[in-house]
Amino acid sequence: MKLKKREAAAVMIKDKFPHLLCSVCGEKLGVEEMTLICKSNHQFDIAKNGSIHLLTKNLKTKYTKDLFEARQYLMNEAAFFKPAIDEVIKYLSIQKRGVILDAGCGEGTHLAQVIESLEGFTGVGIDLAKDGIQAAARFYEQVLWITSDLAKAPVESESVDFILNILSPANYREFARLLKDDGEVIKIVPRSGYLKELRHHYFGSGYENEETVSAFYEQFDVKEKVTVTFVQSLNQQAIEALVHMTPLSWRADPEKVSSFKALKRTDMTLDVDILIGRKK
Ligand SMILES: C[S@@+](CC[C@H](N)C(=O)[O-])C[C@H]1O[C@@H](n2cnc3c(N)ncnc32)[C@H](O)[C@@H]1O
Ligand SMILES: [Zn+2]
Repeated sequence: MKLKKREAAAVMIKDKFPHLLCSVCGEKLGVEEMTLICKSNHQFDIAKNGSIHLLTKNLKTKYTKDLFEARQYLMNEAAFFKPAIDEVIKYLSIQKRGVILDAGCGEGTHLAQVIESLEGFTGVGIDLAKDGIQAAARFYEQVLWITSDLAKAPVESESVDFILNILSPANYREFARLLKDDGEVIKIVPRSGYLKELRHHYFGSGYENEETVSAFYEQFDVKEKVTVTFVQSLNQQAIEALVHMTPLSWRADPEKVSSFKALKRTDMTLDVDILIGRKK
């Protein structure tokens, strides 16, 4: 019989990832029925959709429900990012099995695709935006979805085999704490061609990633760097989703946002580096 989402989450914590910590006092959390509870009796319910809220305050972020729904459409149905995720899947398919923590997982499509494509991995997605975690939990089972801060993750030290960090902020000290000794970070950063058609329309210029890349090389022993460049033709629905899902639209001239949204079809470039580094 198929377990309900919250029961499945409780089983997953007990069997595969018994490493969550109380976000009030830092003690280890145990599972009792559908509640996580620490020694000092701080309690966190597992929601009906299986997600867990481990922030002590409710934060309002610029990443809203609408943004995550648009992002989910572009990543899942339009498969815009899939060529990059396929490279991550190819890399992981020949690694030892273990826990993958997606730090800044957003609406969850990338981690869900990885976990659904590979046997034997446990997926944990964390994001500061509750709306992202809700969108993830609504659509994707098999992964533990947690609202929390990646800079202060309520997760035991040395309990994670791989950290995924895709177009999201990073906290390398925290990543090193979370990783096992032979653990690895898989970080995806945009390259100069990433969304260049949109960037040029909005700002008349591209993007440089040198600082982000060199900061990664300082912190980790880089094992591999894979570049993925792929041009796709987007239809009107995908163009609208792209405009709504990207933070680039926040600082663009509203008239330029509208004129881009009115396009019927356009090419759009995916251009990213996948950096794979071991803990030093
Ligand atoms: C550009 S989105 C990328 C989301 C997802 N990785 C993707 O590629 O679709 C950046 C994400 O980082 C999350 N984020 C920003 N600061 C964070 C923090 N301190 N802890 C956890 N997540 C954070 C945001 O909520 C947002 O979902
Ligand atoms: Zn506690």
